[in-house]
Amino acid sequence: MDKLLDRISEEIKNAFEQAGYDRELGRATESNRPDLCEYQCNGAMAGAKQYKKAPIMIANEVAAKLADSAVFAKAEAVAPGFLNLTLTEAFVGDYIKEMRLEQKFGLEEIRNPREIVIDYGGPNIAKPLHVGHLRPAIIGESVKRIARYIGHHVVGDVHLGDWGQPMGLVINELKVRKPDLVYFDENYTGEYPTEPPFTIAELEEIYPFASKRSKEDEAYKADAMACTFKLQSGVRGYRALWKHIVDVSVTDLKKIYQILGVEFDLWNGESTVHDRIPEMVDYMKKGNYAYMSEGALVVDVKEETDTKEVPPCMILKSDGAYLYNTTDLATIMMRMEQNQPDEIIYVTDKRQDLYFEQVFRCARKTKLVKPETKLVHIGNGTMNGADGKPFKTRDGGVMRLESLIRDINDEMLKKIMENPKYELTEEEAKPTAQIVGMAALKYGDLSNQASKDYIFDIDRFTSSEGNTGPYILYTIVRIKSILAKFAEEGGNCEQVYAHINAPVNQSEKQLMMELAKFNASIEAACEEYAPHKVCAYIYGLADAFNHFYHETKILTEIDTTKKTGWIALLILTRDVLETCIELLGFSAPERM
Ligand code: ARG
Repeated sequence: MDKLLDRISEEIKNAFEQAGYDRELGRATESNRPDLCEYQCNGAMAGAKQYKKAPIMIANEVAAKLADSAVFAKAEAVAPGFLNLTLTEAFVGDYIKEMRLEQKFGLEEIRNPREIVIDYGGPNIAKPLHVGHLRPAIIGESVKRIARYIGHHVVGDVHLGDWGQPMGLVINELKVRKPDLVYFDENYTGEYPTEPPFTIAELEEIYPFASKRSKEDEAYKADAMACTFKLQSGVRGYRALWKHIVDVSVTDLKKIYQILGVEFDLWNGESTVHDRIPEMVDYMKKGNYAYMSEGALVVDVKEETDTKEVPPCMILKSDGAYLYNTTDLATIMMRMEQNQPDEIIYVTDKRQDLYFEQVFRCARKTKLVKPETKLVHIGNGTMNGADGKPFKTRDGGVMRLESLIRDINDEMLKKIMENPKYELTEEEAKPTAQIVGMAALKYGDLSNQASKDYIFDIDRFTSSEGNTGPYILYTIVRIKSILAKFAEEGGNCEQVYAHINAPVNQSEKQLMMELAKFNASIEAACEEYAPHKVCAYIYGLADAFNHFYHETKILTEIDTTKKTGWIALLILTRDVLETCIELLGFSAPERM
């Protein structure tokens, strides 16, 4: 279905043509003076030079052609040459009626769906999830859902950090603490135990401990590096122990991602491509892409037009060890083979911008990808505390994701219980607080442009007023409760849902015009990898709905045609809002 703006523009284009001007001048935009009109067209100004005529004259001629238009109730030429436009009620009502009957509310599915791999999450094994991993997970999940909704084929991969130095640190520390474990007996040839020799709590304590010690103790660090090397070169016991570390960690990670409503199709990691690296290195050498520089194997990736220094991409360190980008490049190779993607998207902290620039250039130069393969890095900004610095715990430590979620749920519960209209017990309110808390957290994040830093303000995020998740949910719940009353009084939502009428007042018209932006908003959010555009859309929609609701007595209306039309409009608003929050990755409770 055409976007509303396109449909409006079409009418103006015809008028420009009929008046003897280039039809392309007839593009409409939303009005920047909503007090004067709903839409505007600046085409006469643009055409003035070409036709050597005062813009107001052109505008007047075009306005005359629009006098009997079914689209515009008012088309006025105003100095110095704008067209101020107001839509007819019938046109708006018809558009919404059509939108109601269309699949996906008038959003057209993509004609050429793309194969997309999206790499987001990026948690590291043996380290607890901290808030730094929150944004890639939340943003990536939403970008994935939006692309799928539009019709692309999208595979999400968590890309675990499971193969680097942290693994050696953990294994080495286990060796220090439990030297008798069978995994360290190099002569052992039997089966290894199926039960891990540690708990998740132990594991989480070990990593920071070992990491700290390795910074202070050279010999200790060397031992840890030796462990990494043994692991990577395939020593049986080390691999078996590593497998336990991964399993225990992944079980825990899955729990948290589930709470976050984040689902990955693939649980691959850096380790997945380990065995492919020699082949890749070979290929890069044979193609003369890679050369030795101070003992390391590198690929140059700088370009003439660079304004900043882009260092070479290092494939192997001088000791032959692999790096972060070695695994990323090998992963690209594997994905091209297994998924044949048209596009690979990465969501990470924006501090990795330069890193991905290097990796992408290297992948192109070495032809790991096709010339037309799109490589995208969505670099997210930092979530800061009230002091403007990266979010920390009260005592200055790294905030664990679990604690953050707990805090927000507690705050939400408190706010729900403070609401005098809320009738349930605290125990009953808990599941609701979790649903709303998740919306507060995710919306608080997603409503910001991904690349921008933002301040995590728990009080604002959990507020039921303003541009927040809870505000959106309150709006949905309010609609649901009106619909429930309508049903209690004998109404049948199923029967009336398509009975959209022309709007009878300005707030209803406004609500319809907001609804009508659905297809354009979702398309823009997809093209620009911008979930914040979905947030902006539903915020505008929720506001328009609440305005309409305060001005309209819906259930007591005696004119049944009017009333059914309103109920249908409510159902559509609910459906659209619920679809959008699903795209953002959260849901609404039945009541709150
Ligand atoms: N594990 C990495 C980190 O914590 C993020 C991984 C992002 N994905 C990637 N393909 N490099 O920084």
